[in-house]
Amino acid sequence: MEYSEKVMDHFMNPRNVGEISDASGVGTVGNAKCGDIMKVYLKIENNIIEDAKFKTFGCGAAVATSSMATELVKGKTVQEALQVTNKAVMEALDGLPPVKVHCSCLAEEALHAALWDYAEKNGIVIEGLKKPVSDIEALHHHEAE
Ligand code: FES
Repeated sequence: MEYSEKVMDHFMNPRNVGEISDASGVGTVGNAKCGDIMKVYLKIENNIIEDAKFKTFGCGAAVATSSMATELVKGKTVQEALQVTNKAVMEALDGLPPVKVHCSCLAEEALHAALWDYAEKNGIVIEGLKKPVSDIEALHHHEAE
């Protein structure tokens, strides 16, 4: 299995590891199949993502994608952050091996879960944001239906 230099860099030196104590939104998503768990914290002010941090208990690709996903959403509006899909994260990392694509889905879903939490806490609706799942295996199942 070949990893790009960017994946290796974000795996070895992950950005934004940690938590935000006064986060505006927190999202936790797991993958029951591999047992990996990702938690994303967002600090949002005036609709702008001021800060993003994560904790990932998972494989190297999950660490790299959460690192890149948090980097990509920082400074963006909530709406722009929705464009940070697993595809966008993979592109920013110069790709992932096919068996590791699901790890990037974990990053997208954890991000969405944090945005969902933020929206719920503030009684707002973020257009285009679907209710996140807590286990991405459920998501795959759903998509296959
Ligand atoms: Fe589970 Fe990568 S193997 S997230």
